[in-house]
Amino acid sequence: MSEVVTAFAPASIGNVGVGFDMLGLALAGVGDRVSAMRTESPGITIAEVRGLDGEIHPYLATDPEHNTASIAAKALWNDYGDDGGVELRVYKGVPLQSGMGSSAASAVAAAYAVNQLLGTPVSNDRLLAYSLAGEQYASGGLHADNVAPSLLGGMIFCPQVLLPETVRLPVPDGVSAVLLHPELQVNTADARRKLAKGYSMEQWLTQQAYLGGFIAACAANDIELIGKTLKDVIIEPQRSAAVPCFDAVKAAAEAAGALGASLSGSGPSIFALCADAVATNLAMAMEQACRGLGIECQSWVSPMDAPGARLVD
Ligand code: HSE
Repeated sequence: MSEVVTAFAPASIGNVGVGFDMLGLALAGVGDRVSAMRTESPGITIAEVRGLDGEIHPYLATDPEHNTASIAAKALWNDYGDDGGVELRVYKGVPLQSGMGSSAASAVAAAYAVNQLLGTPVSNDRLLAYSLAGEQYASGGLHADNVAPSLLGGMIFCPQVLLPETVRLPVPDGVSAVLLHPELQVNTADARRKLAKGYSMEQWLTQQAYLGGFIAACAANDIELIGKTLKDVIIEPQRSAAVPCFDAVKAAAEAAGALGASLSGSGPSIFALCADAVATNLAMAMEQACRGLGIECQSWVSPMDAPGARLVD
């Protein structure tokens, strides 16, 4: 059993536009790392949280009661730990309050690392429940649409009624995900509280059709049907006004050939799906539209079968 392990967990696109709280997609190229080291003193502690620049993170707490990494690690430790303890080091690669599953990535990387440190008492799928403990602290809701893809990779169907079971969905060939992160912040817990509690039969039927159609389209590699179904009539209209660049960035993505575009999670990030061949140009078009409004931004292009959590050096 090794004494220090480091795990990486990717960022993710919550909801994927069509499946509020029940559909998530892993994003390649950006994520959090967590190192876990055995200690003689009991329990889970956090030695430090650092940002991408290598500096001590200005906002995130090392108090183990208030960090999703330690909360997830503690949930696992409570079931499988011993008399000793674990000290975590958290390296944030995912911007905070970005709609990119930042809290989930820390929770998943921590649970993954501690599980390895313990000699893997829990299978990958079962780590979901422990990672969710951290995510629930951050967002105030029990939704796995960031945790599940971050842990398992690819596109995962994870409605609350099926948890802890999840379903890996087939992804279409030749389709990329593009994510633009404008330098703005949206607090997920606040954004969730503001959502309407009731919806019309028409909205419900329409969104069900889009979700079912989108999943079927991805499985059948039906690119045209993906374009017809990657739509959100329920959540996007309530949240998009909080992201001042949303309309311009979505329009730019569509003009550059997106099959569809929407908010990633609760925003402010905006994602699009498109043919691989146009992905780089599409990302540039989205960035240009965002900067045109005076908002700095960054974008990533990812395959739809991006890998999930794993050990790194
Ligand atoms: N499904 C969650 C929400 C994800 O949209 O509130 C948050 O990233």
